[in-house]
Amino acid sequence: MGSRRQVSGVVGSREEQLSRHPTTLPGRHPDYILVSVAWPYASGPRHLGHAAGAYVPPDIFARYHRMMGDHVLMVSGSDMHGTPITVAADRLGVSARELAEENHLGIAESFRRLGLSYDLYTTTLTPIHYRVTQEFFTRLLEQGYLFQDTQPAMYDPEAQRFLPDRYVEGTCPHCGYADARGDQCDNCGRTLDPTDLINPRSKLSGATPETRDTTHFFLDLPKFQERLQTWVNAESGHWRPAVLGFVQGWLNEGLRARAITRDLDWGVPIPLEGFEDKRIYVWFDAVIGYLSASMEWAERRGDPEAWKRWWVLDADGNAPGRSYYFVGKDNIPFHAIIWPAMLMGYGGLALPYDVPANEFLTLAGQKLSSSRTYTARLPFLPEALELFDADAIRFFLTINAPESRDTDFSWDEFQRRNNDELVATYGNAVHRLLSFTQSRFGGVVPMPGPLAPEDEVMLERARATFETVGDQIEAVRLRDGLLSVMALAGALNRYLDEAAPWKTLKTDPERAATSLWTALQVISALRVLTAPYLPFSAQQLHEYLGEKGSVHALPWMFRDLPAARRLPTPQPLFRKLDDEELAGLVGRLDEETVVTGEPI
Ligand code: MF3
Ligand code: ZN
Repeated sequence: MGSRRQVSGVVGSREEQLSRHPTTLPGRHPDYILVSVAWPYASGPRHLGHAAGAYVPPDIFARYHRMMGDHVLMVSGSDMHGTPITVAADRLGVSARELAEENHLGIAESFRRLGLSYDLYTTTLTPIHYRVTQEFFTRLLEQGYLFQDTQPAMYDPEAQRFLPDRYVEGTCPHCGYADARGDQCDNCGRTLDPTDLINPRSKLSGATPETRDTTHFFLDLPKFQERLQTWVNAESGHWRPAVLGFVQGWLNEGLRARAITRDLDWGVPIPLEGFEDKRIYVWFDAVIGYLSASMEWAERRGDPEAWKRWWVLDADGNAPGRSYYFVGKDNIPFHAIIWPAMLMGYGGLALPYDVPANEFLTLAGQKLSSSRTYTARLPFLPEALELFDADAIRFFLTINAPESRDTDFSWDEFQRRNNDELVATYGNAVHRLLSFTQSRFGGVVPMPGPLAPEDEVMLERARATFETVGDQIEAVRLRDGLLSVMALAGALNRYLDEAAPWKTLKTDPERAATSLWTALQVISALRVLTAPYLPFSAQQLHEYLGEKGSVHALPWMFRDLPAARRLPTPQPLFRKLDDEELAGLVGRLDEETVVTGEPI
């Protein structure tokens, strides 16, 4: 599989954490930026679709804002509750807690290897999370935003538990498909109620479900309808059209109350007597995780009030900064309607500034849901990280990002983008120049002579790219930002084709030195510009440019490379992926099928 690159100054290491001092840019007032990242289900490993949709984008965004000198707090954790974890645990003969904790460790490890720079990646099983969730529940109840209601639900008499809709299966009344689920039919796509199914059966035991009455707490969403509409009108100018469309669609239909408790023994207990055999619904506690994780982060750093700087409204009701919620599009209602309503009901806390939800990364046009079985699938993160460098994965997932529409994943495209763009356009230009510096200039950055107009143009372009990319990242157009970085690498290649220092070296050594110096300045800019996107290779390049410390602690600005500096011997930053390697891989992923569950 070829040798793996050695990376010193590992991203997310203690050294990097310590070097994250705000590097305030001259004349700029730092902002408080909360980077809230969707909490992955601890039901199993996450795949590349999840990473493209929700996990890599916030990391790029957070790294950029840190380089801008902003106060960034990036939090998330594993979403540990929900029926599928209990079902899988029963099947394996372990407790839900054991299974969730084991999966959490695996997810956290692949996130670390992918270079995700969370300030805290925790879980929903912490004492602080339980406490904050219960406080939230109690406050909403006291404010009159929760009510109780009794309704019939499906019950499995054999497994002796209530069944989530999707755990009831049967024949679709519309198309006759035999394996329709209680929430929808995968054949005709219609939304169903479990009671619609012909010959219903429990997915757990196969038994015929019974209907039993059960009492639950409901979040009274209609009470928030008007305030939500006012908020959406005021805030949505900078939202993605798809997010606004979704939210406005829900609001137009009129909000309905939602049950926020379940008949389960796995989840946050309801802080009231008489509800010992029920738990708070996994979604209700998970979104509260953004707040409880911020508090946990503050507590861990010995400054328990610190979370307030991102969360607590001032006396005029203004947010202290901006909160961004990075999620996949299936998460939009929970982040752009239900969580804002919960925050309004709780009072005094900042609402989302933006929910830059992504569309899906698809495989042959199908959604990559880990709850379904496929004969061809994307790799899970642990596999992908065994096979490819983290930056190669991040590059592809970003340049091919599903920011405005579903995007098909294909191995050909992965190979092409890696080989033709990451390696050919960027990596080779860097390696060629650094090697040339070694072989012809004794590894020392040359002293430039007078700059020619084309040198000035090249340098100006490198400088201007900081603003272009910065604007794109701030608008959460991360793909466009990466395209702008790559456009600079392309411009460098054209400049080098013209200037050809390897030729002028013989005829006009001063000209050659000046061209090389100019090109090295552009590389120096590229190590900063790529840092949010490609954190490992940016760090490596930083070291090849003779610098110590973390590239991620640099300010987001042009940084020159002083003449006369001696540079260490470079290695290529990236590697090509050959046909055989990929062919073997695709075959392997075609044969396997995976069945895991997701909480409903
Ligand atoms: N676990 C959910 C998912 O992966 C996401 C939850 S985001 C949260 O789709 F904030 F609600 F946790
Ligand atoms: Zn059907």
